[in-house]
Amino acid sequence: MKRDLFINGNWVQAEKYQSIYSPFSGEEIGTVPVATVEEVDKAIVAAYEARKTMAKMPAHKRAAILERLVDLLEERADEAAQIIALEASKPISTAKQEVARTIQTYKFAAEEAKRIHGETLSLDAAPGGENRLAYTVREPIGVVGAITPFNFPMNLDAHKVGPAIASGNTIVLKPASQTPFSSYFLAELLQETGLPAGALNVVSGSGQVVGDKLVTDERIAMITFTGSPSVGIGIRNKAGLKRVTLELGSNSALIIDDGVDIDSIIDRCVTGAFSFQGQVCISLQRVYVHENVYDEFVDKFVKATGKLNIGDPLDPDTNVSALISKKDVDRTLSWIEEAKQQGAKVLTGGKAEGNILLPTVLVDTDQSLKVSCQEVFAPIVNINKISTVQEAIELVNDSRYGLQAGIYTNNVHVALQAAEELHVGGVMINDIPTYRVDQMPYGGVKESGFGREGIKYAVEEMTEMKLVVFNRQ
Ligand code: SIN
Repeated sequence: MKRDLFINGNWVQAEKYQSIYSPFSGEEIGTVPVATVEEVDKAIVAAYEARKTMAKMPAHKRAAILERLVDLLEERADEAAQIIALEASKPISTAKQEVARTIQTYKFAAEEAKRIHGETLSLDAAPGGENRLAYTVREPIGVVGAITPFNFPMNLDAHKVGPAIASGNTIVLKPASQTPFSSYFLAELLQETGLPAGALNVVSGSGQVVGDKLVTDERIAMITFTGSPSVGIGIRNKAGLKRVTLELGSNSALIIDDGVDIDSIIDRCVTGAFSFQGQVCISLQRVYVHENVYDEFVDKFVKATGKLNIGDPLDPDTNVSALISKKDVDRTLSWIEEAKQQGAKVLTGGKAEGNILLPTVLVDTDQSLKVSCQEVFAPIVNINKISTVQEAIELVNDSRYGLQAGIYTNNVHVALQAAEELHVGGVMINDIPTYRVDQMPYGGVKESGFGREGIKYAVEEMTEMKLVVFNRQ
């Protein structure tokens, strides 16, 4: 695979290219541009010039573009999954699920394009408001700078590109350095949909060059970013008055109450902890289990973990493959070592084979350990014993992060108490925190970020409310 920059509807040769390698095999997958500031500037000019065309485009046309994109993705779904599996080392069965979700996301975007509206207001509720007709409209914000992560290279692009097109904006998209091919594939598809030139531009390159330019350029009205908390905080600090949506990380937790049927939840918990090697912002990282069911849960969880297939992402039977980089393997091994030295026990895993960190189950981990209090973004889960759900709620909330949390319980009062007291963006009752369908509001509190995705909510973030007051005299 070789890609050029995608600017103003054209494939443009770049000054510089770099090779991308498979995280699993180390083999070269292809080459992509490393954009310079001047090249990013060209993409911003294109998006800025196209913004009026997009803002004037009727909703049914914006919806038709997104519907056409859905058709094209459905036709080329296998190829799309292959690209994700190759560049991210996402097991192909999981990559196929991502493509299916991406199709859903664009379908929702097509539908949402047709229902962007404001409201009429009763100004006469206040003295001085008589004789006025007042209403609000939602207008596109302009140029959206989208910075996307490696872990869902198609669907998290869709969560930014879909609502941006639905609401009549233009986009400059910077994909993650390891996974640019998914974004260029999207550009190739969108080229066939009738999307005006300049409405989507894709520029791969470094965070320091491409990212910084997008974040600081005055023509960009909004940054929508998914990625690490440290980068997100840096963006917030540099973005000035730009609107910013940040979907950052977490160390998501699950509470398991006394009396829960453990057999019925084990497979789901294993999936939540190890799907895509734990490189998911809502991956199950901390489990707090009631003492009466703790031993049974731990025993069955470890056995189920042992059944996972480890290996080549292109093998349809693989469940767990390589981490995104060798650096992440070294980082997570050192965190496991720290945990061991501080008294934690490794029940399975705890070592690497090549770039694959084996699914790792830790017990007796203190909250202060990196494997617990930081986002591990790896197949590592901490299981700890609790005596009451109240104690577990306090442990879940004792975190810098707050994206999603889950609780399994048979007691509706306990469930509602947890829903009220857990300080997170979403509470999943009788499910793991690793739950998302693409139209639901998705986002966090504390260092997990702010703003919400889920097409309708992203459209709100990507539009300005304008008030019109008509004085009838
Ligand atoms: C994320 O890692 O933030 C996205 C999770 C998902 O879409 O399932």
